[in-house]
Amino acid sequence: MLKPTLVSPFPVRYEARFEHLEDDEAATEKGLLETLRGISEKTATATAEGHGLRSVHAKSHGLLRGELRVLTGLPPVLAQGLFTSPMAYPIVMRLSTIPGDLLHDRVSTPRGMAIKVVGVEGERLAGTEGQVTQDFVLVNGPRFAAPTGKGFLKGLKLLASTTNKAPGLKKVFSAVARGAEKVIESVGGESTTLKSIGGHPETHILGETFYSQVPMLLGPYMAKLSVVPVSPGMLLLKNAHLDLHDKPNGLRDAVLDFFSSHSAEWEVRLQLCTDINLMPIEDALAEWPEAVSAYLPVARVTVPPQTAWSEARSAVIDDTYSFSPWHGLAAHRPLGAIMRLRKSAYEMSAQLRASQNRQAIQEPRSLDDLPD
Ligand code: HEM
Repeated sequence: MLKPTLVSPFPVRYEARFEHLEDDEAATEKGLLETLRGISEKTATATAEGHGLRSVHAKSHGLLRGELRVLTGLPPVLAQGLFTSPMAYPIVMRLSTIPGDLLHDRVSTPRGMAIKVVGVEGERLAGTEGQVTQDFVLVNGPRFAAPTGKGFLKGLKLLASTTNKAPGLKKVFSAVARGAEKVIESVGGESTTLKSIGGHPETHILGETFYSQVPMLLGPYMAKLSVVPVSPGMLLLKNAHLDLHDKPNGLRDAVLDFFSSHSAEWEVRLQLCTDINLMPIEDALAEWPEAVSAYLPVARVTVPPQTAWSEARSAVIDDTYSFSPWHGLAAHRPLGAIMRLRKSAYEMSAQLRASQNRQAIQEPRSLDDLPD
């Protein structure tokens, strides 16, 4: 039981001792790279002309252009990095689901949201000097699938073993996993493994709240980030059932349908680390308690009506963009083992698909040329 009187309301300043290498981190990194590369090599053989895809989050359901506006009057602890001044930036948003292959949407898996903010000035993370982007790469649940990279590698190997399996078989597998997930949830639990292999509820992707799950620096402090739907049309979509039975691209169709006549608005929120014991950096399974440190609004993302997915946009965003928590400002340096392991994984996956597709990865300086 937490004792609120013992909990500091003030953000903890980052100290290097909060981060430490996990056991066998180098071997885990090697295992992750091998497994991810294996997935991409397999999926390329199943696509037209050996088309290269992301090792995970291969299928996009929305490729959107919008704006991120930093709120005015933020308190100094929150007014850090990207959120320092009340500026508006163009953004591109990619909605995805986690597998590395392009599945029928009946195989319902957790969803991803990647945001690339463009035109950001400030001291950069090493390796991104000269660029002007800040990426946020999020999934629709508050905590990661495993406490450590080593634990995650086990689950990833299971996911990899289902790559390119006969789609019919996967759909049956998914229905079974969804049934099992409902049973587990009815007794108050949740199985990330079952969800990741097809046990996710068949809900509308625009009703989801997305989370960074693992922390980043916020200037001298540490924070997690969430992106929450707030416009009335989107609130109606929270937990809304979507029939994906005979709709291989049902999620994308639903996103296209929504943006044909609606705009969308999300709130960007930050959760400050106010107690390093309750809100650790190196345990990715630890959900930071919102009762102790609430997610606080720092910006709004608005996306106007538009064609929410097109082949032309896919050719640019799916094939030539790379979203990574390591693209951004030094003030938002990713923290902890999961974040460290993501660096080389995202670089490898992006470079592999670039070489498979004989196309360079580009980091945009403006979105003026983004096609509709
Ligand atoms: C050790 C842990 C992780 C590894 C090894 C990993 C690996 C990867 C890789 C290789 C990609 C494809 C990159 C590309 O080709 O551009 C990717 C994409 C993605 N990952 Fe992770 N990931 C990890 C953790 C996470 C976490 C914690 C989140 C969010 C909470 C996340 C969300 C996403 C999303 C949304 C995408 C799609 C990005 C896009 O639209 O381009 N991943 N991940």
